[in-house]
Amino acid sequence: MYPDVRPRRLRTTPAMRRLVAETVVRPADLILPLFVREGIAEPKPVASMPGVLQHTRDSLRKTVVEAVEAGVGGIMLYGVPLTRDEVGSAGTDPNGVLNVAIRDVAAEVGDATVVMSDLCLDEFTSHGHCGVLDAQGRVDNDATLARYADMAVCQAEAGVHLVGTSGMMDGQVGVAREALDAAGHTDVGILAYAAKYASAFFGPFREAVESALQGDRRAYQQDPGNGREALREVALDVAEGADLVMVKPALPYLDVVAAVRAAVDVPVAAYQVSGEYAMAEAAFANGWLDRDRTILEMLTSIRRAGAQQILTYWAVEAAGLLRAGY
Ligand code: PBG
Repeated sequence: MYPDVRPRRLRTTPAMRRLVAETVVRPADLILPLFVREGIAEPKPVASMPGVLQHTRDSLRKTVVEAVEAGVGGIMLYGVPLTRDEVGSAGTDPNGVLNVAIRDVAAEVGDATVVMSDLCLDEFTSHGHCGVLDAQGRVDNDATLARYADMAVCQAEAGVHLVGTSGMMDGQVGVAREALDAAGHTDVGILAYAAKYASAFFGPFREAVESALQGDRRAYQQDPGNGREALREVALDVAEGADLVMVKPALPYLDVVAAVRAAVDVPVAAYQVSGEYAMAEAAFANGWLDRDRTILEMLTSIRRAGAQQILTYWAVEAAGLLRAGY
């Protein structure tokens, strides 16, 4: 009797489909990125990211407690300072907005979640680049490394569990590891934004951090067409001591996620970035896509491609859907 092979047999009931499901996303796989803004009295909405806020110190603490209760795996903190300068001084000021936020969060939730912070200068520089500039106005790789080393130690002293090296400078993981170890922070880990592309999908993030950037980051972030190069970046970061490696953005780069997963043994994360969030939110607002199903399908696809940890602005909402057995 034809057909004698019937894959549909395994799709007949919800219980059957659950039994054979290959890919499961857990709330603990999700990491919530959060913005904290210096000098605001009330949380401030980010227009291009509906539902995302710039937090005050207070609203940040409350939101982190909610995230812990929702069972998310971690949070990633970004600071938006009041004043910026050429070298991003606020990033290495123990009283700078990000370092204060790390201390606040560490005091509030301790080890109940994994606290991570952005180890990059772009939120703190007056020109918006991820590093310091040389006399010609180009991003100076090695001068930037010295700033990152100080920043890593500052964030560790504030109580972070993982620093997120997101600046795409050569050698950044190595200098961060060396600086952390020399300061006695051997337990503070590094989440390396190892394969990070010069992506248009970061657009809404620039609003969220009120970036001062003119121009682009193509002289340090990767060309979107380069897949093999990602493996080279990842191998370097692992050799320099990365504890986890990340691919960013996520959905347009799932081939890169899969290739990285096959190439290394450290945990592989992916960042569902601001533009991925914004485009889906726009479709939800128009009633063009089903909100819950679309969010979970995207997260499942990222997980299926091989990323375990997923940074997503929907972390708390998605954790709720997953707990409800969606
Ligand atoms: C750099 C950084 C950026 C993002 C995370 N870390 C911006 C950039 O590289 O321009 C983007 C994240 C997102 O778009 O959600 N500190």
